Amino acid sequence: MAKIFCTENIINKPLEILTKAGHKLEIWDSKINGVINKDILVQKTKNADALICMLSDKIDEEFLSQCPNLKVIAQYAVGFNNIDLKACAKRKIIVTNTPDVLTEATAQMALTLLLACSRNLKQAVRNVENNMWKGWEAKDFLGPELKGKTLGIIGAGAIGQRFMQMCQKAFDMNVIYYQRHENKNISAKYVDLNKLLKESDFLSIHTPLTLQTKNLIKYEQLSLMKDNAIIINTARGEIICEDSLVKCLSEGKFHGIGLDVTYTEPLPINSLLRNYEHVIITPHIGSATYEARTNMATLCAQNVQNVLCNLPPITPITTEI
Ligand code: GLV
Ligand code: GLV
Repeated sequence: MAKIFCTENIINKPLEILTKAGHKLEIWDSKINGVINKDILVQKTKNADALICMLSDKIDEEFLSQCPNLKVIAQYAVGFNNIDLKACAKRKIIVTNTPDVLTEATAQMALTLLLACSRNLKQAVRNVENNMWKGWEAKDFLGPELKGKTLGIIGAGAIGQRFMQMCQKAFDMNVIYYQRHENKNISAKYVDLNKLLKESDFLSIHTPLTLQTKNLIKYEQLSLMKDNAIIINTARGEIICEDSLVKCLSEGKFHGIGLDVTYTEPLPINSLLRNYEHVIITPHIGSATYEARTNMATLCAQNVQNVLCNLPPITPITTEI
C-alpha cells in the first residue's frame, strides 16, 4: 500500500483507481482548509510515495530533500515551471504532466479572451451593470472585426496550433508564428519575433515558461506592436514583462489585453493592471472545462498508478534538462 497526497480537491472520481488498488490517498481541500502552504505541503508529503500537485505548488530541492519516499510527482497541468526537474532526476523521481487533454479548452480560452477584448466585453457589461446604459450607442464600444486579420502566435505547440486553426477556420485569419525552430508541418508562416510583433493585429502567447522565454516580451518588443493591437496570454504571466505592459498601457497603447495568467497569481490587489478597463484578467482558467479537468485527473491517476506498479508512466516529462 502506497501513500499518495493530492494538494487540491480536483475532480476526484478518476482518483478512485488509486484507492481501489489499495493505496492510501489524502486530498487537501483549499476551500475548507485554506490554500496549502509550504509547511503543510512538506508535512503531508514527507512520508508519501506519490504526489499529485498543482502549478501553484513549488517543488524544489528543499522540498524534495524532506520527502525521501517520493517516487512520482504527477503535475495536474501541462506547464511544469514550478518543478525543479533536475532535482527530481537526481533523486530518480518520475515527473508527469497532463498534455493534450487540455489543448482544446486552453485554445478556447484564448479565443474567449480575443473575442471579449475585441468587442470591449468588460466595459460593455460594466456599462449595463452600473446603470450607465442610457440609449442605443452608435459609436461606443466599437472594436475590430476578427475576419481577415493577422494573428501572431508565439509558441506553436499543441495549444498554439489549435488556436491558430480555430482562427484560420472561423475567421479566415492570416496566421504567422514565432518559436525557436520552424515547424514545416504547420500551415502558417514562420517569422522572426520582431516581424511577428510588427505585423500582428492580435498576438497570442502559447510558449512554455523557461529561462529563454521569461520576460521575452519587454518594452522594446511591445513598442514594435501596432497601437491598436490586442494581446492574449493564456500561457504564463512571466513571459510578458508586466511593468513594460503597464508602461505601454499608460501611454495609451493597445485596444485590449486579455490575460488568463499574471506575473503573480493571484493578481496583487495593488496591481496597476487593474487600472485599465480594456485589460481583462481571468483567474488562470484555461483548462477549466468539465472535460479537460476530468481527463487531467484521469491522467494523473493513471500516471501515479503505473509508476507505483513499476510500469512506465503515460505522460512523463521528457524535456531535456
Ligand atoms: C495551465 O496553465 C497548465 O499548465 O496546465
Ligand atoms: C442591431 O441590433 C441592429 O439591428 O443593427
